[in-house]
Amino acid sequence: MKTRITELFGIERPIIQGGMHYVGFAEMASAVANAGGLGLITSLTQPTAADLAAEIRRCREMTNKPFGVNLTFLPAVKPPDYPGYIRAIIDGGIEIVETAGNNPQKWLPILKEAEVKVIHKCTSVRHALKAQAIGVDALSIDGFECGGHPGEDDVPNFILLPRAADELTIPFVASGGMADGRSLVAALAMGANGMNMGTRFIATKEAPVHPRVKEAILNATELDTRLIMRPLRNTERVLTNAGVQRLLDKEKQLGEAITFADVAPEVAGVYPKVMKDGDMDAGGWSCGMVVGLIKDIPTVQELLDRIMREADDIITARLKNIAA
Ligand SMILES: Cc1cc2nc3c(=O)[nH]c(=O)nc-3n(C[C@H](O)[C@H](O)[C@H](O)COP(=O)(O)O)c2cc1C
Repeated sequence: MKTRITELFGIERPIIQGGMHYVGFAEMASAVANAGGLGLITSLTQPTAADLAAEIRRCREMTNKPFGVNLTFLPAVKPPDYPGYIRAIIDGGIEIVETAGNNPQKWLPILKEAEVKVIHKCTSVRHALKAQAIGVDALSIDGFECGGHPGEDDVPNFILLPRAADELTIPFVASGGMADGRSLVAALAMGANGMNMGTRFIATKEAPVHPRVKEAILNATELDTRLIMRPLRNTERVLTNAGVQRLLDKEKQLGEAITFADVAPEVAGVYPKVMKDGDMDAGGWSCGMVVGLIKDIPTVQELLDRIMREADDIITARLKNIAA
């Protein structure tokens, strides 16, 4: 399948694995690359720029296909070593970067000078237009249903994607709620040029996370995610668990007076506890409503083969028969 996204990134299939904290290691990114999609290593999971450089080298040993790196710009008291991470990305020969979080403007000139292609992930048409204006190459449009940070506008993809298609001139992928061939065809129908998936990729054989995380995904339904940190305007969609319930109780009790320090026990340092140790009640970890559509743990190759087969069946048989 050829789209503006496969052409831009030199990949075979218009499917991207979004950056995922404590999931986006070399094992994940290389498995997606080897299956013809775009896999991404997540920078901030690597404690230092030197560790990111080593992870990029490790990934290169696992695939000779293109892969990229996610750079998430978070509000932080002590900012991560972004210049160091960017140096590791460029020196590591990475040609594709997914930016997310804050506006990437400050870092674009150095990435562009190194001929790195930038896909920026955002949750509103307003931010997408801004990113297009400052010169990113593509966008990942994250709807309200997404795992992680859906922003504060709460616009689901059935509205957000056609709105984006009406306004944008650069290519974009649909992100949030994507799981299968139906998602891909729907995304294309809405005007996107491919799709980005997070949660679905965690339930694969290669995802380097504790088996209990994959089990939790299989057992959950579309009713099991919660929005946390809304009062802090840092909303995150997570899978519910005892830690998340504790946090939501605090939000109710403290109301407007709540601060980050109040919720820190349920959100700071939670990812290694969940992803590595399988401590499923530790606190909030990102998970999309799409969890309700995930019923198995295939290899990444099986998953992407199945998605493309389903998409092809829908386009060439089901839709064609309806049209006829
Ligand atoms: C466990 C997990 C961790 C994530 N961590 C990040 C991250 O560090 N940076 C980022 O830009 N997006 C992150 N995301 C968001 C994904 O890249 C992607 O945009 C999102 O999962 C899409 O929604 P979906 O889960 O419905 O597919 C994360 C998502 C999950 C599920």
